[in-house]
Amino acid sequence: MTIPTLNVGVIGAGSWANLCHIPCLQAHPQVHVAAICSRNRERALQAARESGIPNVFTDYRELIACGEIDAVTVAAPNRAHLPIALEAFRAGKPVFCEKPLALSRADAARMEQAARLSGKHHQVAFLFRYLHGLRMLREMAASGEIGRIFYVRVEGGASGELMPGVPFGWRHDREEAGAGMLADVGSHYIDTIRVVAGEITACCAQAVTFPRSLEAADRSLHPVTTDDIASVLFETEGGVRGQFFTGRACPQRRYAEIELYGERGGLRCPLSRGEADRMEISLRGEPYRAVSLPEGQAEEPGRCMKAMMRRFADCCLGQAAKDDQDADFTDGLRAQTAIEAALRSAEERHWVAMESG
Ligand SMILES: NC(=O)c1ccc[n+]([C@@H]2O[C@H](COP(=O)([O-])OP(=O)(O)OC[C@H]3O[C@@H](n4cnc5c(N)ncnc54)[C@H](OP(=O)(O)O)[C@@H]3O)[C@@H](O)[C@H]2O)c1
Repeated sequence: MTIPTLNVGVIGAGSWANLCHIPCLQAHPQVHVAAICSRNRERALQAARESGIPNVFTDYRELIACGEIDAVTVAAPNRAHLPIALEAFRAGKPVFCEKPLALSRADAARMEQAARLSGKHHQVAFLFRYLHGLRMLREMAASGEIGRIFYVRVEGGASGELMPGVPFGWRHDREEAGAGMLADVGSHYIDTIRVVAGEITACCAQAVTFPRSLEAADRSLHPVTTDDIASVLFETEGGVRGQFFTGRACPQRRYAEIELYGERGGLRCPLSRGEADRMEISLRGEPYRAVSLPEGQAEEPGRCMKAMMRRFADCCLGQAAKDDQDADFTDGLRAQTAIEAALRSAEERHWVAMESG
């Protein structure tokens, strides 16, 4: 019996393609990363050389049209997600797309519709879902371990942005990124909140940009137009309230953390790519204590990236069925809806109800 192979084309050859998409796909015994695309040919060639990828493209349409390619992953900046995903679905190929799905809710809705109508597997890169600790937290919350949950708190934060010499990049430009930390890392937190506490129905946000201009590689100066820090209060459909904070211009927290408060106590776990993977419970006011995870569920740097890409390949190969670990374009649309509502709330300075559908 021949073992099927999935030939994947990776679109984007930047830091995330090289850290996550390419190596994690190549770790799957039945995946062949057959092509890579970047508009700058040198960049694509370098990634191809370093990872042993045989075909190089500078136009994503040509990669998608290539008969040898069975599935596509999108690791290009946010603005490029929509045209690439729509083209791939038109060509009948499964798509793995980076978060945030799009620049706006309207764009995300077009992508989600195309994904559904294509009948092909579609997935979005919300990788915290693959944490063993978060899975255990979801199960314990759902089984009523701490009683009714009334509050969720997510605390993030990363340093570096205000260091001298930070170059201007697409994440600083609202036209390219859609939003700053709200989209970049906030999208992960929104997805995590949704899976533990249900759909977000309304929010009230503050988004702060430190006024400054940064120098691009060609030495031209550009104003930063995306949020450096965002804090968001929210409510979910089940009446849970909560808050999340995300910032790139603040002292580094080792790991982000999600914490749930219920009638009888709290549950919490770090949010990492697998290097911090544990969870804790506090009951009746006692200090937090670790909950043992099943054997084999160990901490491992980068494990969630590998698990996420393996699931994409297995689902494309028909060897696994999508389950609630795997975020899809509908989840991407829901996160985009919350990002857009938070941006509007911050601009208009009041609570905003989520658009439905
Ligand atoms: N899931 C996660 O935890 C996670 C973590 C990091 C990043 N990401 C996401 O991954 C995406 C990429 O981020 P990054 O940090 O890797 O960015 P990056 O380092 O700037 O790389 C982006 C790559 O895309 C290429 N590109 C841009 N426009 C393109 C187009 N129209 N067609 C083909 N290639 C194009 C760029 O090269 P050219 O300019 O030569 O085209 C570059 O190779 C973003 O959406 C980001 O949010 C997700």
